[in-house]
Amino acid sequence: MIRYALLILLIACPAEAVAEAQPPARDPAPGLALWSRINEVFSHPRCANCHVGEDGVPMWSGASNGPVARPHGMNIVAGDSRNGATYLACTACHTPRNSEMPHGPPGAVDWKLPAPERQWFDKSSAEICRQFRDPRLRGMASIDDVVDHIRNDGKVRWGWSPGPGRAAPPYSADQLAAFVAQWDKSGAPCPEQ
Ligand code: HEC
Ligand code: HEC
Repeated sequence: MIRYALLILLIACPAEAVAEAQPPARDPAPGLALWSRINEVFSHPRCANCHVGEDGVPMWSGASNGPVARPHGMNIVAGDSRNGATYLACTACHTPRNSEMPHGPPGAVDWKLPAPERQWFDKSSAEICRQFRDPRLRGMASIDDVVDHIRNDGKVRWGWSPGPGRAAPPYSADQLAAFVAQWDKSGAPCPEQ
């Protein structure tokens, strides 16, 4: 009797295991819609002008400096430190607060560029998505840390209080944090192109 039961188990189990290993394909549309909102913010000048690549040159654009992004004036280069330490420190001009002078430097605590792997400026939505999804290219391994950073980091929050002459990105920091958390839960899909 026991042997008979075991035989049934052996025959029945593999089929079930296979069925369980292949969950029904998930519809990527809701996740992609969330990503498109995330990308609206990440690629917005208030964020992308700091999220630049290897050359370490921040960008200027917007009402204050014209619609087309151009390299930061005064030959500013962030260098390996990403904070200008070897040349002229970002914080020599960028204090924790926005300057109230027209064309004065905006400000937030610890003003500096992120690592080149976090480049968003000049990249497509698909490129930004694939690099952001990859924990090896992301600075913060866990999405919880990223969500926390978006909610609390002064440089991110500055994007929504950029001072006179600069437009803020759409949504809010808290909404963006929620989009990122939901996008991750939905399987973190990225657009093809
Ligand atoms: C010599 C002073 C000075 C230094 C040093 C400096 N900046 Fe600036 N920065 C400015 C000024 C002034 C503005 C505003 C220009 C304007 O509105 O016309 C500015 C604007 C910016 C902006 C806003 C761009 C935008 O369009 O919203 C970013 C980003 C920025 N700087 C990043 C940096 C980083 C990163 C460093 C260090 C690697 C740095 N800056 C070093 C003076 C400086
Ligand atoms: C003044 C420059 C600056 C601006 C402006 C800025 N960031 Fe960043 N960002 C950084 C730095 C530097 C880091 C790396 C973490 C750190 O050192 O604080 C970073 C990291 C991040 C990360 C984590 C990425 C990862 O892979 O771990 C996110 C998400 C982020 N920023 C979102 C934004 C958003 C959204 C905006 C615009 C609303 C923005 N940032 C504007 C400098 C900036």
